[in-house]
Amino acid sequence: MLQRVDVGGQCLAVEDSGAGRPVLLVHGFPLDHSMWNAQIESLARRYRVIAPDLRGFGQSDRLPTDCTAVTMARFADDLAKVLDALEVEGPVALGGLSMGGYIALEFWRRHQRRVGKLMLCDTRAAPDAPEALAARFQNAIRAEAEGPAFLADTLLPRLVAPETLRANTEAVSRLRRMIAAAAPRSVAAALRGMACRSDARPWLAAIRCPTLVLVGQHDAISPPDEMQAIAAEIPHARFEIIPSAGHMAPMENPSATNAALESFLSD
Ligand code: MLT
Repeated sequence: MLQRVDVGGQCLAVEDSGAGRPVLLVHGFPLDHSMWNAQIESLARRYRVIAPDLRGFGQSDRLPTDCTAVTMARFADDLAKVLDALEVEGPVALGGLSMGGYIALEFWRRHQRRVGKLMLCDTRAAPDAPEALAARFQNAIRAEAEGPAFLADTLLPRLVAPETLRANTEAVSRLRRMIAAAAPRSVAAALRGMACRSDARPWLAAIRCPTLVLVGQHDAISPPDEMQAIAAEIPHARFEIIPSAGHMAPMENPSATNAALESFLSD
């Protein structure tokens, strides 16, 4: 069921389905909670699955006109307020994909007692290289000027594996629709927020909760070797490669992603 949750002057749309131990899923950029639809449907048979549209995205409130950046810390604190509003007191299994992973790591740093298990999907711990930083700021200005549709053309070939782009028209058109529907101000604000995110590499060795590091075999944005290095830094992390998938593994190969998540959650 989609609910509206006030996180302090802004309402977020939050999918809250199923019952049992809570699982909180955080979407990537510039998407919305529906990227997790296949996981919500499957996991909600055994767990309470909470999947918000982040501040400014999906069906959440539009950002105010004077908002130029949303930090990963702000997104993470919104998640804590969502859990408070939904009266989730015990620790959650927290999963985030890409930007959602940056937010999950920041959430772990700021609200550690609320994280029982961590699932880092197709994400990075390192900050951006200088060229990537410059591109983020340019794209932010361009998104504000002309809307986010241009991002679909530049991002899609990197978001999914070549075989997905060729053969999985359903996933590709859903992604294209989500990107085109994103509010220009939210896209720009998240780009600037990602640009100034912390270097999470020094935190990894201190993560003591059970952690799953999951990556699509053909991920071009957070490649398997980079994610394997993240897993190697986190004590006792489990590392899984999802075949026939790129950066959007949960949408490209939902059955393998669901199996990996379910096996990790039930352990
Ligand atoms: C995402 O999928 O959330 C983005 O690729 C994250 C990023 O641009 O670093």
